[in-house]
Amino acid sequence: MQNNFWFSADKIMKILVSIIILFCNISAFFSQDNPLIIRTKFLPDQLWLDNNGVHLNAHGAGILFHKGIYYMYGEHKLAGETVGKIAVHCYSSVDLYNWKDEGAALMTSDNPNSEISEGCIIERPKVIYNKKTNKFVMWFHLELKNQLRKSGRSGVAVSDKPSGPFEYLHSVRPNAGYWPINVTPEQKASLVEAQKLAGTSFIGSPHPDRAALPFMARDFAGGQMAKDMTLFVDDDGKAYHIFSSEENATLHISELSDDYLSHTGKWARVFEYLWHEAPAICKHDGRYWMLSSNCTGWNPNAARSAVANSIWGPWKDLGNPCTGATPRNHLGPQLTFGGQSTFILPVQGKPGAYIVLFDVWRPENLIASGYVWLPIRFEKNRFSISWLDTWDLSVFKHKN
Ligand code: DGJ
Repeated sequence: MQNNFWFSADKIMKILVSIIILFCNISAFFSQDNPLIIRTKFLPDQLWLDNNGVHLNAHGAGILFHKGIYYMYGEHKLAGETVGKIAVHCYSSVDLYNWKDEGAALMTSDNPNSEISEGCIIERPKVIYNKKTNKFVMWFHLELKNQLRKSGRSGVAVSDKPSGPFEYLHSVRPNAGYWPINVTPEQKASLVEAQKLAGTSFIGSPHPDRAALPFMARDFAGGQMAKDMTLFVDDDGKAYHIFSSEENATLHISELSDDYLSHTGKWARVFEYLWHEAPAICKHDGRYWMLSSNCTGWNPNAARSAVANSIWGPWKDLGNPCTGATPRNHLGPQLTFGGQSTFILPVQGKPGAYIVLFDVWRPENLIASGYVWLPIRFEKNRFSISWLDTWDLSVFKHKN
């Protein structure tokens, strides 16, 4: 009797273990780690697998919607800051949850003398479509190889297809020889004095000893420094390049030519000496809304928001738009949930619905950097962003 009892207990144990293993397998199959499973929600700062089961490699990204498909372009990261063979990675999606790997949108050049040879730094690529030329135009922040982030250039590349490949054209320091529309007589007069700063290098973050150095006049002749950037196309088809300039001290908003391949020379300085990085812009209810960050390298800081009636300003500071409790993410609203802004995405077919894209930088292994996408809530004269562990596009239902 006793033997039979133990025999049955052993059998029961085995059956239980088999059930547990089966349960684990079933839940792994149905978890978001399985590339065969269709995602139906956003899971901020969790692993985000593409159709091949690989974590998305599109950091500092921007998104273009073209003919029913969203195309995401981002930095193809390796472990460090410099670029390998692939510079910009493209993914496509019809629903924003599930992304198909479209491969390299922009490759580095095999020519060691090229501005984009392996070992350069390419950041924050953004792509816009030009209706007049029927070309897809990519702009990005380019740091030349071995120059310790001192070059601050803007690269431009074009393609006939949204997924690329993009052909690299050239890089520029924007607006050489043009004063901004809001230049002051003092700034114009500082040209000679500013030359003393030539060749001096700075670290790109706030410092009391250089509160208001004349970086803009220093770069008047050779072109303005351009680092963290975004592109914005207005309702009238005019496009703007918005970038951190003057050693990151001041943001520049600069109009692009009709073919989107160069700057027109019309530009403005905004948030003078207030050190903004990571600009992202959208237009909502006839006004321009900006999200950006402070300058603290790869470390998160408090997000900033602003609004203007004209793209040229004046821009009204609205403070940190991040709010709410963070039950899972311990890096709360004061540190932008661990993220830094890169883009504001208008959701197609849902007027008034916008998603903000943040990067969660992991400087010890940049390829593992995460993605936090959250809905923007517009209020009368401000907007807010709250942490959500999980969410889907139905949060915008009332906008239909
Ligand atoms: C912050 C910027 O926003 C990033 O794009 C990157 O340039 C890092 N700084 C580098 O420290």
